[in-house]
Amino acid sequence: MSLPPQVVHLDAPDAPGGLTLRRFEAEADLPEFLRVLEESLEHLRPWMPWAAEHTPAAARRFLADRPARWASGEAYTYAIVLDGAIVGSCGLYRHEDTPADGIEIGYWLHPAATGRGVATRAARALAEEALRLPGVDHVEIVHDPANRASGAVPDRLGFTERPRRPAGAGELRVWRLCRPSSGSGGRSAG
Ligand SMILES: CC(C)(COP(=O)(O)OP(=O)(O)OC[C@H]1O[C@@H](n2cnc3c(N)ncnc32)[C@H](O)[C@@H]1OP(=O)(O)O)[C@@H](O)C(=O)NCCC(=O)NCCS
Repeated sequence: MSLPPQVVHLDAPDAPGGLTLRRFEAEADLPEFLRVLEESLEHLRPWMPWAAEHTPAAARRFLADRPARWASGEAYTYAIVLDGAIVGSCGLYRHEDTPADGIEIGYWLHPAATGRGVATRAARALAEEALRLPGVDHVEIVHDPANRASGAVPDRLGFTERPRRPAGAGELRVWRLCRPSSGSGGRSAG
């Protein structure tokens, strides 16, 4: 199985203010990750159900689980690192109902890191990596219709909106970007 890279540099590696996606290191990253997560909880809670369940032990388990999830192909999770500091997380995810030829992008940022294009740049890089994976024909971003900041990311990147997906009592907004050669819709991620 071909895997995505462990590190994705979106700028020159040592450039001041540079943006990098890299795999988490469970032990070394825990204190910084915990601080960033806890400072972000209030703005994550409306959109990320796990934020309501947060405890330090859950965050530790999350980091400890990353290597197994990466190896199984369920979750390629990255720390978003801006100017040397963790400012959020993003990744490529396969859920139970994800089609075999698809993969989903997820992201969150510390509130102080929003408004600068960080999530959009990270999602663009993840989409490019996803479409290089063998068997992956399309990448999706799925969000609550009320989460306008999240929906603006795929819209900026040229994803195409799909029919909404039922979820619980409501529905989810779905955006898709296809591998350019597949000819099944979607524009390029740039
Ligand atoms: C979703 C989330 C990551 C989006 O963050 P964001 O800051 O709006 O998105 P970006 O980092 O891409 O920044 C986009 C903003 O930076 C601006 N920007 C500046 N430089 C930019 C660049 N090079 N490229 C793109 N946008 C840029 C954009 O104009 C936009 O500004 P606006 O908010 O005034 O429209 C953030 O709101 C969040 O963490 N929310 C909580 C968690 C969440 O909802 N996750 C998604 C669940 S589906």
